[in-house]
Amino acid sequence: MNASAHIGVTGLAVMGRSLARNFARHGYTVAVHNRTPSRTRSLMEEFGHEGTFVPAETAQELVAALQRPRRLMIMVQAGAATDAVIDEFAPLLDDGDMIIDGGNAHFADTRRREADLRERGIHFVGAGVSGGEEGALHGPSIMVGGSKESYAVLGPMFETISAQVDGQACSTRIGSDGAGHFVKMVHNGIEYADMQLIAEAYDLLRQVAGYGPAEIGEIFRAWNKGRLESYLVEITAEVLSHTDPGTGKPFVDVVADTAGQKGTGRWTVQTALDLASPVTAVAQATFARAASGQASLRAAYRPLPGGVRIPMSRSEAERFTSQVEQALYASKVIAYDQGLKMIQDAALTYGWDIDLAAVAGIWRGGCIIRAAFLDRIRTAYAAEPRLVSLLAEPGFAKEITAVQVPWREVVAASVRRGVPTPAFAAALSYYDTLRADRLPAALLQGQRDYFGAHSYRRTDRQGAFHTHWGHPDRSETEV
Ligand code: ATR
Repeated sequence: MNASAHIGVTGLAVMGRSLARNFARHGYTVAVHNRTPSRTRSLMEEFGHEGTFVPAETAQELVAALQRPRRLMIMVQAGAATDAVIDEFAPLLDDGDMIIDGGNAHFADTRRREADLRERGIHFVGAGVSGGEEGALHGPSIMVGGSKESYAVLGPMFETISAQVDGQACSTRIGSDGAGHFVKMVHNGIEYADMQLIAEAYDLLRQVAGYGPAEIGEIFRAWNKGRLESYLVEITAEVLSHTDPGTGKPFVDVVADTAGQKGTGRWTVQTALDLASPVTAVAQATFARAASGQASLRAAYRPLPGGVRIPMSRSEAERFTSQVEQALYASKVIAYDQGLKMIQDAALTYGWDIDLAAVAGIWRGGCIIRAAFLDRIRTAYAAEPRLVSLLAEPGFAKEITAVQVPWREVVAASVRRGVPTPAFAAALSYYDTLRADRLPAALLQGQRDYFGAHSYRRTDRQGAFHTHWGHPDRSETEV
């Protein structure tokens, strides 16, 4: 076979075939392969006219079709399937060839695979591809891990097929080994938090302000013209405005209120615990989905008393709506700040040199959390790459200062009325935790020393100390 293809794609389910088409539509010759050949044939029949495809029946045929250094993209299920496909193809490749995993792998698996393949002379590139089917076909956001040499070859291809914002491609090399998949995971964690915050804002507008779904859809549509402008706010307006054709009821009222998850939110929270990164809004969003699915627990709690419900006048509802917008914005800034800080924490732990301005830059297009304010986040990190928090940047600090009262009033109202706002409350609590002069962690240290002699440090002297709590004199010794 003539080795003419710029890239090969194996795994032609939804994401694989969309990416293969995207490459082909941009003029690349794409060799395509799938374990079950019928998928390859159907791609050729339906979309073969879109560009130059080279269909391959076997792994050997696929490899033989690739230009050197070979670029082979794996688009199969994360986990065992990815390992099986790597095991099948790696022996067929040569020094300097590249395997790209564009699936949703756990970053720890990517680190393991990269180390293993590096020893065999193969570049392993873990690439987080965001944006679902639409994104994969028309321009995703691509978070690429792996060696600089591999990005030198792959970068121009990814940057051609990715989303473009203001003339900039939404693809970048994030860092070595698992950095790309790590950032994709945190992207999904932020997505969970953002969606939960939006859902809580809707719930408040409905239960406290008394608006119906269609009215709230209009409110979100208006918000989408301001600083909250984002894909998620845009689609929220669409979903809320939709009427179920069968019943004539608001669509949101006929959907079961138990949220699913594929696990990337859970990975973010699990990893955050290991890194001691307090991504509390992501954690609350993930637990909120879990709680929604606890049917028997919800049935047990349902008869219990809640807060007071007082109808709002039209002007009160309008005022409250403006407060919710401000609280949503502040909470969103916190959620993104938590995710970006988690990336910084991971960079230190794993030795990644991550440019957060570039991360925010490629999140502006193609991916689910694309939002206007990511441009400001990008600018903030470009001006000060070592920024410890978005709130250390004067512009964001000013905005958060300006929304203090409404932010607190919205959380207070949710508590009084008994409307659950785990993510709003977590974001505000995080803010108050970090700005506190003194935290009650001092008391925790006293408790830990009391029952476990864990010792404590003092504010006025160096060293570790223990108080003899069991002795009548409660004397202190340095340990
Ligand atoms: P998507 O999310 O894009 O729909 P996915 O569920 O992540 O896709 O992955 C499905 C793809 O992985 C399919 O191409 C599947 O091949 P088949 O069409 O033959 O089922 C592929 N896949 C899954 N396990 C595989 C394995 N062990 N070896 C090779 N390919 C595998």
